[in-house]
Amino acid sequence: MLNLVLFGPPGAGKGTQAESLIEKYKLIHLSTGDLLRSQIAAETPLGLEAKIYIDKGFLAPDSIVISMIKTKLQENTEANGYIFDGFPRTVAQAKALDDLLNEYSIPVSGMLCLTVEQEEIIDRLLTRGKTSGRPDDQEVSIIKNRLQIYHEKTEPLRDYYRAQNKYYKIDGTGSIEIIAQRLIDTISSL
Ligand code: AP5
Ligand code: MG
Repeated sequence: MLNLVLFGPPGAGKGTQAESLIEKYKLIHLSTGDLLRSQIAAETPLGLEAKIYIDKGFLAPDSIVISMIKTKLQENTEANGYIFDGFPRTVAQAKALDDLLNEYSIPVSGMLCLTVEQEEIIDRLLTRGKTSGRPDDQEVSIIKNRLQIYHEKTEPLRDYYRAQNKYYKIDGTGSIEIIAQRLIDTISSL
């Protein structure tokens, strides 16, 4: 079973690259950002609570995202494997994921970290914001807040996975195809 954590700052290309990887390896794509946005669109109580954090570029509460992932794992027990995109984002989430996967005796195969410089990230997200309608892509200050939160709360997870020998750094710049090939090369070595 192949279980990948696709990691990196906002706008690093996690969602873009997940699309081709799920196709190639027949994996289930679990993006907590996408799951939260569909809850917001459906105006569920969970979505309305999460929206307060997301629109300003802060993280949604751990309890919300962990329970969403738990439900998705329970719904997809026959999967070939999973791509976790935008999850885990805190040490508490990483521990919860390990505990959940332990229940099914399936470990994380590797954590693939896409690296992109801040200037390019801001360009990518402002460009997307013109058409995506995502409130958190509209203002440089909100994008910078997302990056700040990433550095504070999420980046420390590199050490969490490094300690398990599961951390792989991948250059997230260049064409989408070249980056996809870098990811495939790394996955082949797992
Ligand atoms: P989430 O939806 O996960 O957003 P994010 O991580 O901030 O970043 P994106 O999804 O915007 O970027 P991405 O890396 O997927 O890049 P993409 O492929 O889209 O989270 C949103 C919010 O939800 C969080 O801020 C938080 O509030 C909440 N949340 C989510 N998960 C949570 C969790 N686990 N815990 C707590 N809260 C959580 O690409 C970005 C753009 O760049 C696109 O326009 C794309 O076309 C373009 N692009 C991609 N690749 C390239 C390339 N090679 N060259 C040029 N452009 C490119
Ligand atoms: Mg994404």
